[in-house]
Amino acid sequence: MENIKETIINEANKMKNELIEWRRYLHMHPELSGQEYNTAKFVAEKLREFGVDEIIEGFGGTTAVVGLIKGNGENTVALRADMDALPMDELVENRPYKSTVKGVMHSCGHDAHTTILLGAAKVLTKIKDKLKGNVKLIFQPCEERHDCKGAKALVEAGVLENPKVSAIFGIHMFPELPAGKIGTRVGEFMASSDIFHIKIKGKGSHASRPHMGIDPVIIAAQAINSLHHIVSRKVDPLHPAVLTVGKISGGHAENIIPDEVDMSGTVRTLSIDLRDEIPKWMEHTLWGITTAYGGAYEFHYEHGTPPVINDERTTRFALEKMKEILGEEAVIELEYPSMGGEDFSEYQQVVPGTFIRLGIRNEEKGIKAPLHSPIFDIDEDVLPIGVEAMSYLAEEWLRQNQ
Ligand code: NI
Repeated sequence: MENIKETIINEANKMKNELIEWRRYLHMHPELSGQEYNTAKFVAEKLREFGVDEIIEGFGGTTAVVGLIKGNGENTVALRADMDALPMDELVENRPYKSTVKGVMHSCGHDAHTTILLGAAKVLTKIKDKLKGNVKLIFQPCEERHDCKGAKALVEAGVLENPKVSAIFGIHMFPELPAGKIGTRVGEFMASSDIFHIKIKGKGSHASRPHMGIDPVIIAAQAINSLHHIVSRKVDPLHPAVLTVGKISGGHAENIIPDEVDMSGTVRTLSIDLRDEIPKWMEHTLWGITTAYGGAYEFHYEHGTPPVINDERTTRFALEKMKEILGEEAVIELEYPSMGGEDFSEYQQVVPGTFIRLGIRNEEKGIKAPLHSPIFDIDEDVLPIGVEAMSYLAEEWLRQNQ
C-alpha cells in the first residue's frame, strides 16, 4: 500500500512554486476585514479547479468561502484559515510582491494562511479516495476586527454543522520561531480580548474655583490608578491578566474644568472565569471612586473573543502527528501562551480544536519583523510545511476517529 504520509509530503513539495505564486498574488491584493470579495473569488475558483465537492460562497451572508471534501466515512474534520489584511501601508522599497493597495497590507500573514489551506485542499482532494471521512475547509473573513464578527458569524450560521465537525485545526505565522519549526501547546494558548469604554461625569467650572464644580479629570486619574490595582491586587498572580487604558480624552482649555472625561481600553485574560470577574471589579471601582467625589460614570464592557484554549486530546494528537510528518526536531511544545487575541477561540467554544504556530523567521534572508509590522514578511519556504501539517492532521484525524 502506498504510504499516505509520503504522498502528502511529495504533493506538498511539488506545489511549492504554485504556493508561492498564490501567496504573492494575495499579498499584492490585500483586502480589509469584511471586504474580502476578490480573495473569496480567488479561493472559490481554486477550490473548483481542484474538484472540491461542495463550495459555498458568501457563507452566512459574509465573504466566507466554505468547502467540503467528501471522503469515505461519517466523521468530518475542519481546517480554518483567515483571509483579511490590516489597514496600514507596506513600507518597503524593493519587494516585487509588495501590496498594490494603498493603506492595506497583509502584515499578519493571513495571505499565507489562505495559501496553506488552498494547498491542503488540493492535496486532500487528490487523496480523497483514501480519506476516512470529510474535510471542511473554512476560509474565514474578518479576524482582525471586533465589529464584523468573523468566526462568530460563521459559527452562528452553522459552519460546524451539516456535516457536524468533530475537531478543528488552524495555523498562524509566528516570527518568534525560526522557519522550519512548528509548535503548539495544550491548554491556555492566547488571551481573551475585550474592550471597555468609560465616561466619567463631573460638573464643569472655572479652573480657579474647583470647589464650585466636580472635577472629572481628578476622578479619572484616581479611577485609572485603581483600575490597574485590579490586576495587581484582585487577580491571582498565577493567572495572567492585562488591563490597559489605551485612550483618554477630556477638557479643551487649560483654565476650564470640563464636564466629562472619556476613557477606553482593553482587558485580556487566559481564563474564562477571570474574564467574567474583571468587569465586575471594574464596576465596583468606578462606582466607589465616582461616588466618593460626587460624580457619576457610564461603563460599557464589550466581550470580544474568548481565550484560545487548546483541547488536550486534539493538541496531543497534533504534536504527535506533526512529529511524524515533519520530524521530531521540527516540532516544539511551546512553553508559554501569549496575551494576543484570536477568534479561532469561537470555534473552540463548540468543538475541540488546536491552534498551531508556524515559524517564519529567517535572519539570513532578513525576515524577522514582528506581526503587524509595516515591513512584515515570511520565509516562503515554510508554505509546503504548513500544507503537510494541515493535510496530515486532517487525514490522520479521520483515520483515527472513524
Ligand atoms: Ni493574524
